[in-house]
Amino acid sequence: MPGNPNRNPDRKMLLVAFLQASNCSNYTGSWRHPDTDPGFMDLEFYQYIAVTLERGKIHLAFIDDRLAMPSRFGDSFEEAVEHGVRVVKLDLVPIITAMGLAAKRLGLGATYSTTYYSPFHVARLFASLDHFTKGRIAWNVVTSLNDSEAQNFGVQEHLEHDDRYDVADEFLQATGELWDSWEDGAVLLDKQTGRFADPAKVHRVDYSGEWFQVRGPSTVPRSPQGHPVLIQAGQSPRGREFAARWGELLFVIYPTPEACKAYRDDLRQRAEAAGRDPDSIRVAPAVYVVVAETPEKAQQKLEQIESLANQTDSLTLLSEVFNYDFSVHPVDEPLSEDILASMTGLRGFLDRVVELSGTKNPSVNDFIKWSGRGTLSELPVFTGDPTQVADQMESWFLAEACDGFVIAATHMPGAYEDFVDLVVPELQRRGLFRREYAEGTLRDNLGFVRP
Ligand SMILES: Cc1cc2nc3c(=O)[nH]c(=O)nc-3n(C[C@H](O)[C@H](O)[C@H](O)COP(=O)(O)O)c2cc1C
Repeated sequence: MPGNPNRNPDRKMLLVAFLQASNCSNYTGSWRHPDTDPGFMDLEFYQYIAVTLERGKIHLAFIDDRLAMPSRFGDSFEEAVEHGVRVVKLDLVPIITAMGLAAKRLGLGATYSTTYYSPFHVARLFASLDHFTKGRIAWNVVTSLNDSEAQNFGVQEHLEHDDRYDVADEFLQATGELWDSWEDGAVLLDKQTGRFADPAKVHRVDYSGEWFQVRGPSTVPRSPQGHPVLIQAGQSPRGREFAARWGELLFVIYPTPEACKAYRDDLRQRAEAAGRDPDSIRVAPAVYVVVAETPEKAQQKLEQIESLANQTDSLTLLSEVFNYDFSVHPVDEPLSEDILASMTGLRGFLDRVVELSGTKNPSVNDFIKWSGRGTLSELPVFTGDPTQVADQMESWFLAEACDGFVIAATHMPGAYEDFVDLVVPELQRRGLFRREYAEGTLRDNLGFVRP
């Protein structure tokens, strides 16, 4: 692979770290790993990760979110609490702020739901963060998943899947108008004339949709990036339509480079059809990396990590993600069309289980096996010594299956340290990854234009 003659030397990988403000990483069993630092309630824990990632010139650290602990399985949160299945979710804003103070160049992304927050709140928050970090902020736009989240916000049932994206369309229209409600250069700060800002450059928004009404203007002057970088991960047809309209960094989960390439090609086409430059979007699949100095040591590490998974984690997370109680069925019984249709969570994920299992009516066991939820196999696992891991990343990247990767952690912070110390230098040696940050904002570092 190295030295491939077809390779465009200017095309460099995007590298993103997938973080959780939680007792566990993406991999639920990670909290049981002997090397996992239990300091997830300390800001220093996140600051250390930020500094580590910045040492590796990583573009962006982004933190996912969920607005309720898993409580669909057995209609209770007991199993989740007992086993530590993503029960802790700290508020992201203080964490992002603290990380932004510790690291000076790293991009920082936070997840905010368009179903449970309001456009004014989110527009103001992200514009403020973008000022404080000198333009390093990204927003992971999600529509949330399940009734447990709804009930934490005084709503009995989570909105139906496609309706959530109709709400999200309005949400992004309104936040975008709020971010533009102060023109660049509106702030004068002229002590001599006493003019603070030019009212001709500050505008009402008067957004009026079916779901939201916002008068504006925003109370935060236009931020360094204009708009934060928008992350999206819609995978269903409606989700893709939304991602093609608004998304800039598109995060996905695909088991093979072929499937990921099909998504990337589709999204580039959809973006073009929506009047956008296809190069204004980047697709990055989430992967685990288990790397060590030798293939044998990597294999030992992998076996140790895999041994941390258990079936309760899988069933708890499946119930959460599909908004459906998986405890009510014998594990080998096919689920009826009606039951499958009632799963209002991640449609894209359901399609994946149906496709990979080869049956229209997968059983609970099929869900466990083909979703990989709660196990390492939920994501592709790149494993081996640094050369072997770089080979796997290079082959996806050169096949144009993706523009880079979202690195999920098998344990924290060790998985990030291993990646930065062992894999990044190998990618840099091959010319696949940059050696230094570019000047300017996160947008500048991604080669995205300022809106
Ligand atoms: C890498 C990645 C990270 C995600 N992070 C979150 C998250 O933090 N919170 C959330 O509610 N959904 C999250 N999602 C779910 C997506 O927003 C989206 O709902 C999902 O990919 C399914 O697509 P669909 O909504 O079109 O069915 C994530 C998805 C991916 C692939």
